[in-house]
Order: sequence, then C-alpha cells, then structure tokens
Amino acid sequence: MNAPDTTATDVPLPAPLTVLYDGACPLCRREIALYQGLPASAKLCFADVSDSAVPLPPATTRAQLLARFHVRHADGRLESGAAAFVALWQRLPGWRWLAVAARLPGVLWLLERAYRAFLPLRPALQAWARRWEAGYLARELRSDHAGETGAVAIYAGVLAVARDPALRAFAQRHQATEADHLRRVEAWLPADHRSRLLPAWRLAGWLTGALPALAGPRAVYATIAAVETFVDQHYQQQIDHLLAHAGPEGLLPMLQSCQADEQHHRDEAAASAGASPGLALRAWCRVVGTGSAAAVVAARRF
Ligand SMILES: [Fe+2]
Ligand SMILES: [Fe+2]
Repeated sequence: MNAPDTTATDVPLPAPLTVLYDGACPLCRREIALYQGLPASAKLCFADVSDSAVPLPPATTRAQLLARFHVRHADGRLESGAAAFVALWQRLPGWRWLAVAARLPGVLWLLERAYRAFLPLRPALQAWARRWEAGYLARELRSDHAGETGAVAIYAGVLAVARDPALRAFAQRHQATEADHLRRVEAWLPADHRSRLLPAWRLAGWLTGALPALAGPRAVYATIAAVETFVDQHYQQQIDHLLAHAGPEGLLPMLQSCQADEQHHRDEAAASAGASPGLALRAWCRVVGTGSAAAVVAARRF
C-alpha cells in the first residue's frame, strides 16, 4: 500500500481514491498489479484488506470489503462493484473511455448485473488461479534446481581439467556459492518435483566446464560470463513475476539473493575473460547461452 498518513483506526485519505482489494485472491492481485503498473497509479492509494494489519474504513467489516470490490473517495464515501470500477477507470488515462461508456443509460446497471453474476464463479476461478500459480512456481523452481545442479557440475568439470591456480581458486569459490544456491532451492522444491533429467543436467554442466578448461582460463571465464548472463535474466523473469503476483513468503528474497550472486559471478568472469574473444570462443558462448535457454525449457517440463 503506497499510503501516507495512516492512523490506527482509518485507511489513509490523502490520495483522491483508495482501492480496497483482496490481496489473498490471485485474480485480484493480478488485476491490481496491472493498475499499479500504470503511471497514473501514483495518484491512487491501494489497500490490501485481506491483510489484518491494514485498518478498515469506519463502519465496515473485513468480510464485507472482501466480498465485493470497493473504492473509497477522499471524502470517505465508499463505492462497490461496478460503480467502484467506474470510479477507478475514471482516474486511469487509457481506461477513461470505459468510465465514459458506463455513463450511457443502462450501462452501469448492466455492468453491476455482470459483476453480480461473476461473484458466485469467483471461488472456482480463484481455486483455478491458485492451482495455476502453484504449477508455475513448481515449474520455475524445477528449472532453478536443474540450473544450480548444472552450475555445481560446471565447476566440477573445470576443476577436473584446469591446472591454473587462479582459475582453480575461482572455480572453488564459485562452486561453493552454487552448492549453497542448490541447497536453498532444494529447501523449496520437494524431491518428487525435481527434474527427472538431473543426470543429463550434471553431464551437460560438467562438459560446459571441462571443454573450455581444455582451451585455457580465458575460455572458462568467457563461458561463465555467458552462462551467468542467461541465469541473471532467468532469475529476473521469476522476480518480476513474484513482484507482480506475490508468492510464498521468503521465496522472493531467496531468488533476489541468488540473482545478486549470479550477477557478481557474471561480472567477475567477464572482467577476467578480458575484451574481444576470438570467433570460436564467441560461437561457443552463443552455443552455451542457447543451450542454457533450451535446458530451462526442458527442465520446466521434465
Ligand atoms: Fe547459482
Ligand atoms: Fe552462478
């Protein structure tokens, strides 16, 4: 809730309109995230009334506010259902035409009837959305687990081949971090939800480390920079999703912390790789990047 001036007994008033929404509902969260992404949302105030710490307007109950969509005007007036949507749309450029259309005779009445018809379907749609969300998270965590398994194996491959002391120290340090990532992802993903292709990810990871190690330290550093560039984007996409839709408590900070490590790995490897890699190394890095993307697609499914 982006709200100044909260008191213990009342929702904040300074914004011209306070949107009271059910943050425990995946459908509402998605819709509110859409509104919050609009530049005009800075002029709105959002209050998640499913959160027991969020104070309610006077003479209302949480059950009442959760049963229908509500907005509260700066003068304290409450509106709900279709009228509340219209009041919200009125304040959003690009959506205002909907509010204008709702002023046509009979349109608001029709919108309210449609909203009332939707309400009995809401629990079933919420259950479907929760199942979809749980499936999405399981698939993404499976791909993270496969990736971190592969990452540990990359450094095992490097250490099996490399003799350069600086490269070995780099690989040992990074491998310890990747093993820590793997443990953290494992804590979120039950064993029976993990990828069935783990032996393949271990082998692919080992080869991704061992093959460039045969060519020398620069090839390894460039490979790690390419892998970590992909991994950073992969985590970012999951972080963006959780920022928009929320998720189980603790998952977002875990992913953000892993991503910060991967960014550090990427930058350290890129600095060690130096500038202007040769044509063969560039081609290899491209294969590694494409292979990582393909592995994620497969690990989400299998
Ligand atoms: Fe990692
Ligand atoms: Fe990493």
